[in-house]
Amino acid sequence: MRDPAVETRDLVKVFERGRRTIWQRLRREPDRRDRFRAVDGIDLRVEAGEIFGLLGPNGAGKTTTMKMLATLLIPTSGTIRVLGIDPLARPREVRARLGAMLSGERSLYWKLTGRENLEYFAALYHVPPAETTDRITRCLVAVNLSDRADDYVERYSTGMRQRLALARALLPDPPLIILDEPTVGLDPQASRDLRDRVRELRAQGRTVLLTTHYMEEADQLCDRIAIIDHGRIVALDTPAALKRTIRAEEVVHLEIGVDGDDAALLERLERAGTVARHERRNGTLAVTAHCASARDFVPAAFDAARSTGTTIRHVEVVPVTLEDVFLALTGRGLRE
Ligand SMILES: Nc1ncnc2c1ncn2[C@@H]1O[C@H](COP(=O)(O)OP(=O)(O)OP(=O)(O)O)[C@@H](O)[C@H]1O
Ligand SMILES: [Mg+2]
Repeated sequence: MRDPAVETRDLVKVFERGRRTIWQRLRREPDRRDRFRAVDGIDLRVEAGEIFGLLGPNGAGKTTTMKMLATLLIPTSGTIRVLGIDPLARPREVRARLGAMLSGERSLYWKLTGRENLEYFAALYHVPPAETTDRITRCLVAVNLSDRADDYVERYSTGMRQRLALARALLPDPPLIILDEPTVGLDPQASRDLRDRVRELRAQGRTVLLTTHYMEEADQLCDRIAIIDHGRIVALDTPAALKRTIRAEEVVHLEIGVDGDDAALLERLERAGTVARHERRNGTLAVTAHCASARDFVPAAFDAARSTGTTIRHVEVVPVTLEDVFLALTGRGLRE
């Protein structure tokens, strides 16, 4: 069996909230800031050749984890192996084998062409000069930008810029690529296109580790997913297996009016399915229920409404998604 591409054990990163003023520092006052664990004991094993996703809400610790893998942050504790190498002991070797596209670090030179940008970064990343031209050509092909390579980046669309940033990450010809929110800010077509590029990277035998808070993206693209919340992994498996943990085939969203007895209604609904969430919003009770079959659940819900004096205003039946998995695990939605 091949070594894993990434392995972490009990990885922890502690941050302080707020800032320390220069006066506090000069007076050597003790640091009384709150400390919190942005990454709180993550054990991860990403196999070579897979697309692995970290899925979680804002502030879950995804970027922090990525940065530690990419040698950009030093862990508070825990161990990391990237392609068998310890990034703390041998950071340069890790950087040479890793292609990274991290958020906030997508700077490209707008007054240069796409190709010129890659030439500049190839020099910066120590791509052997004899290989540079060839490498750049291949990276441009990989992201489908060959025909626009000699246009100024300022004339690129957002999706093209994102693809150029991916080409830049590919310059070292890395066996492992880490992508932080690769499709954020892209329209649906550009996102789909970028996902196709990522699949091609896997087809070339590379490993891709990415973060996203788009559950559909994680579902469609990733071989395996770790769902992260508050710096911890709350579930890790293939998308299909994660969805199977919801003992339901279908999800029903109900909108119920202000009239009648909510508590009695919810109790009745619980008999027909699992009420995953209920919330009063602007006078409407929104219920998300998991059930074996909407065909049985929906009529039962209408019966329940009638006998508790409430009105169902809207019904929507949808398949189980990773959002439901997250909801079942944490009691919250991914976007809250
Ligand atoms: N340098 C820092 N100093 C202090 N706190 C930080 C620092 N970087 C991140 N944090 C905090 O750590 C937590 C995790 O942040 P992180 O960026 O890893 O989340 P994320 O999962 O990538 O979220 P998002 O989906 O919004 O990108 C957040 O509460 C964030 O505010
Ligand atoms: Mg992030």
